[in-house]
Amino acid sequence: MESDRRAGAVIAAMGAYVPKQVVDNNALARTLDTSDEWIYARTGIRRRHVAGPEETTATVSQRAAEECLRAAGFPAADLRWVLVSTDTPEMWNPASACFVQAGIGATQAVALDVTGGCSGFVASLGMARALAERGDPVLLIGCEVLSKAMDWSDRSTAVLFGDGAGAVLVLPADAARGLAIEAVYARTDGRDADILGKPYGGTRNPITPELVAGGHHHRIVMNGQYVFKHAVLRMAEAAEEALRIAGVGLEAVDWVIPHQANQRIMDAVADRLHVPREKVFSNVEEYANTGSASIGIALVEAIQQGLIRPGHNLLTVAFGSGFSWAGAVLRTEVVVPVGADLV
Ligand SMILES: CC(C)(COP(=O)(O)OP(=O)(O)OC[C@H]1O[C@@H](n2cnc3c(N)ncnc32)[C@H](O)[C@@H]1OP(=O)(O)O)[C@@H](O)C(=O)NCCC(=O)NCCS
Repeated sequence: MESDRRAGAVIAAMGAYVPKQVVDNNALARTLDTSDEWIYARTGIRRRHVAGPEETTATVSQRAAEECLRAAGFPAADLRWVLVSTDTPEMWNPASACFVQAGIGATQAVALDVTGGCSGFVASLGMARALAERGDPVLLIGCEVLSKAMDWSDRSTAVLFGDGAGAVLVLPADAARGLAIEAVYARTDGRDADILGKPYGGTRNPITPELVAGGHHHRIVMNGQYVFKHAVLRMAEAAEEALRIAGVGLEAVDWVIPHQANQRIMDAVADRLHVPREKVFSNVEEYANTGSASIGIALVEAIQQGLIRPGHNLLTVAFGSGFSWAGAVLRTEVVVPVGADLV
């Protein structure tokens, strides 16, 4: 009965996958006017994982989804929703989630994509929680295959991104124990929509032969310094607001799992919040910025490394195009099972 239901939702299991092809900074420096020193000093990135010829957003998402469901021992046919948070979809239409739904056999699930920038995964966690609270099992996947959708000749953006996927199984709180989703805070400011994004190929700027001839139809537009400044301010805001909603003090946070855009952004957010940098999980060196996938992959690695213990409060924060930013507070009831095919 609805009235008997314990309110809330939990992440009951997680999965992650990254492609096996690795491109390090030195490899980029062979074709671009850049260097390992410049990239590492400015971003903390040493290498990124890049999809192979057969890999796409649907296949990479599906790999993470399968890892998650296998770890959970949860039948795909029992899912009610398959949500894919991505800015690099399988195709214009239909949603990437449709291919994942078919691939994993989630025959009873509604499949939808969310285009929410790099904070889309955390914002979608709020949606997944709302759906799970009414009793629906949800599989949420954050995935990017940026390597097939960016301009590899533009050194100002090509060095920043990588491919991968992270997946979470979100269940009603009375159906499982796991990472209790205590609070999700998400905001958007569309006045900065043109500052960061991929403007070509949509209805405003359709692909033309001239655009393709110029080689810039995949160009990512970004005002790096403006993005940097706002990312720090907004991620700190998202952290404080999510903690306020959860009723958890900063001193009670055991791990901050931020969106892995850039080591300098993560350090600046930690400093602004007066959180010791040692409490901020980072794997940006290995994977670069994997957009919507980064927090799922980071959470899985933190669990695999034994860093997360029962009772721990976790804080995730993200910022991305839109501008959009979001934070979530997760309370570790039990350390959840994870499946992963990473490094
Ligand atoms: C992109 C970013 C690393 C650039 O660092 P920066 O210190 O701001 O550098 P600038 O943009 O001021 O550029 C400094 C110089 O380096 C050059 N440069 C840019 N990319 C370069 C590269 N890959 N290698 C070498 N030089 C590069 C610029 O052309 C510029 O040269 P100039 O001084 O001759 O004009 C930084 O702005 C950043 O991290 N921004 C946030 C990006 C981000 O995270 N986006 C995703 C958010 S989800």
